[in-house]
Order: sequence, then structure tokens, then C-alpha cells
Amino acid sequence: MKLRKIAPSILSADFSILGDEIKKVEEAGADLIHVDVMDGHYVPNLTFGPPVIASIRKVTELPFDVHLMIENPERSIQDYADAGSDFITVHVEAETHLHRAIESIKEKGLKAGVSLNPATPLCLLDDIIEDIDLLMIMSVNPGFGGQQCIKNTLPKIKKARNLIDERSPHVLLEVDGGVKLGNIRSFKDAGADIFVAGSAIFTSDNYEITIGEMKKILNEE
Ligand code: DX5
Ligand code: ZN
Repeated sequence: MKLRKIAPSILSADFSILGDEIKKVEEAGADLIHVDVMDGHYVPNLTFGPPVIASIRKVTELPFDVHLMIENPERSIQDYADAGSDFITVHVEAETHLHRAIESIKEKGLKAGVSLNPATPLCLLDDIIEDIDLLMIMSVNPGFGGQQCIKNTLPKIKKARNLIDERSPHVLLEVDGGVKLGNIRSFKDAGADIFVAGSAIFTSDNYEITIGEMKKILNEE
């Protein structure tokens, strides 16, 4: 059976008790911690950078799935690596030298991901799909938690699944944005491996129940 993973996005956590929130989702069964880095330029919102990541690195053993929504991410990869990232994902739209950015992430011994916005076509990955470790399909326009998933996402995930199966089966397929208990099954059926969920987990009354129910759906055949 395929191992599918839940990655709670701490964007929707209570930042005043961020360490506790991370420990709580770890105890509740999270597989990865999804860390949304926003620079106020590539996306309108501003979140946190390497010092905060280095600080929360101390509270959990879970891998950090760092999603860079920043311009020219290649320039900051060393900083995010030093802060304790395990996966670093950059946006195709934000990086002129995508191949160099991917190589630079891998040289540091980390997993390299590429993310596509809803309007960015999969064909942009034609010449790089063999080189990456993770493909993230955005199911919302990046910048904010708590948005509704955009309609065309499911066919795009299916296409991405086919591309990965045909050309680069080691690549993990991640879906980010608007994932909830009510729709996680459709993302699973479309072929995703990693499911980012921010508001669906952090606004729920009981993280363990929410993550548990999500995993139950993911583990059903
Ligand atoms: C959006 C972020 C997402 C977001 C997901 O820019 O990349 O990771 O936090 O949040 P929800 O699950 O609330 O859509
Ligand atoms: Zn994200």
C-alpha cells in the first residue's frame, strides 16, 4: 500500500504558541511540518524566515517541508538549509535559474521540490522532472491560508501523476491549498502522495481526530 502523508501547514497555527502547536500536531500523527515562507513580494503576505525555522527546529523530529514563496529563492537556499529544512520547494514562477536552484538544494543533502501555481502549466517541468524530488501542485493561489481549492486542480494532479509515473517515479506529488476532510479523498484518487492542510487542522477542535480521520481516508483502498 502506498504511504500517503499529512503535512500540517503552520501558517494557520497560533504563532504566539508556535512550538506547542507543532508538538501537538506531531502527537496527533502529522508526518511532516509544512512551513510557508512568504516575502511580501512574490506573494502579498509576509510570514517568517530562517531564524524562526531554526528556533522551531528544536521542538520536533518531524521533517520540515519548507515552501519558499519568495523571489529569487536560489539566493537564500543556504540560509534555509542551515535553519534545518529537509525539503525545500521553490516556485517555478519565482526562479529564473531553476536548474541551478534545484542542484543547490540537492548539494546540501536536502530534497528539492518545485511548485506550480494554478495557472502555471505542467509542461514547464519537461526538462527538469527527472532532477527533482518533489512536485507541489498549488490548488489555491499562494499567499494565504483558508482559501477554497481551485476547480482545475484535480485534472492537473492526475496529469502530474501520469508524468511522474512515466518519467520520474521517485518524485513525490504534493497538493497544497484548500485540502479538507471533505475533499481529501478526491486528491488521493487523483494521485497525490503528500497532503498539506493548514486551516482544516489548526481551526479544528481536536487535531488528533482531524488528522486521524484524514489518514483513515488516505489509507482506505
Ligand atoms: C498557501 C500556502 C498553503 C496554505 C494552506 O499560500 O502555501 O500551504 O497554508 O492552507 P489551507 O490548508 O488553509 O488552504
Ligand atoms: Zn504551502
